[in-house]
Amino acid sequence: MASIDYTVRVGRPLSGSITVAGDKSISHRAVILGALAEGRSEVTGLLEGEDVLGTVAAFRALGVAIEGPHDGRLTIDGVGLHGLKAPAGVLDLGNSGTSMRLLAGLLAAQPFTTRLVGDESLMRRPMERVAVPLRSMGAVIETGAGGRPPLHIAGGRTLHAIEYRMPVASAQVKSAILLAALYAQGRTVVVEPAPSRDHTERMLAGFGYPVTRDGASVALEGGGGPLHAVHLDVPADLSSAAFFLVAASIVPGSCVRLRRVGMNPTRRGAIDILRAMGAHIEAHNEAVASGEPVADLVVRSAPLRGIAIPRELVPLAIDEFPALFIAAACAQGTTVLHGAEELRVKESDRLAVMAQGLARLGVTVEEYPDGLAITGAPIQGGVIDSGGDHRVAMAFAVAGLRAAGAIEVRDCRNVATSFPGFVACARAVGFDLEVRS
Ligand code: S3P
Repeated sequence: MASIDYTVRVGRPLSGSITVAGDKSISHRAVILGALAEGRSEVTGLLEGEDVLGTVAAFRALGVAIEGPHDGRLTIDGVGLHGLKAPAGVLDLGNSGTSMRLLAGLLAAQPFTTRLVGDESLMRRPMERVAVPLRSMGAVIETGAGGRPPLHIAGGRTLHAIEYRMPVASAQVKSAILLAALYAQGRTVVVEPAPSRDHTERMLAGFGYPVTRDGASVALEGGGGPLHAVHLDVPADLSSAAFFLVAASIVPGSCVRLRRVGMNPTRRGAIDILRAMGAHIEAHNEAVASGEPVADLVVRSAPLRGIAIPRELVPLAIDEFPALFIAAACAQGTTVLHGAEELRVKESDRLAVMAQGLARLGVTVEEYPDGLAITGAPIQGGVIDSGGDHRVAMAFAVAGLRAAGAIEVRDCRNVATSFPGFVACARAVGFDLEVRS
């Protein structure tokens, strides 16, 4: 496939009002629960990124009639909890860890056998973290070498409830267990070591399936239901907004408004971290849409300072670190991150890839097994390889707004997995961004 490269140069202050792409995590869950509901669900604001389109394709292969998406609108004719059909072949989930892990939980409880594969990046990602708890529920799941995909999930198993203490805070693992638990006999309890995004719990409740939360525990009783079809309005993705929160913060004289951004408390860590660094971010028009808090965010440029990032904020900002590292490179002083070893098993090893890229641009970076220390410095121009990671690509595009020379970011094709409108949004607020393919 043709490679896509970005070149970004310092330009004018950023300004304007944009709506970034729909929330990726919520979009996946809308497709999954819409498929399992009884009746027709309508989704608006859906992310039309490749990851979510992969989930849509998987459910079509599982026998669900889905129309769209057109302009973020999707219509799903739910087949009920017991209506999925055996797919004709393997399910290819592309770059999407969320699709593979959540589907693993759901498919472990189906009467038919399935096989899940993905692209080069996904085939390197750890899957035992979902296979282990699902096996303890009675599922039969084989992973490939080193606990990586492909996943072979045997059908026709009877699952039973478990009480599971998650070793890492992972919404994907929690959600996989909760989806399997819908079919298990008894009450499944998942205990989180730290809060992770709770979209699955909120959305299950929205579809009429009771989920209880007691401190760090989430529980649901299997064999209930049905799920009732709903209209779901997906907020804009804070993880996509983060690139603009950083961009407007670091370019003097900027003021950008981001409309209807998801403000779920389990996702808001990046805002707290940026504010602690001195960023000027205001929330306006706070509201609730389909069970999720949303707000318009107005961000103005501000001098940033280095901080020690509080560990408790790490899982609440886990996808935003590539963008936050660019903020750190533009801050006065040193920003220190620990407790973020999970970044090594994302779409790329984000600690290594970001450290290499920043060093190449003349920024002093120290790499730890679980984090980075970044000392703010003038950023040089240069050529950066994104490692095929969408968020790394967008982060270095933002770095180009403050660099002494042009920054060329190679291998940006996967930006289409989470934020297909990135280039259009970036240009709309004033990025000098050239695309070559
Ligand atoms: C996600 C959970 C997080 C996050 C990913 C999306 C989800 O992963 O990094 O982009 O939608 O549940 P982990 O569960 O591995 O932390």
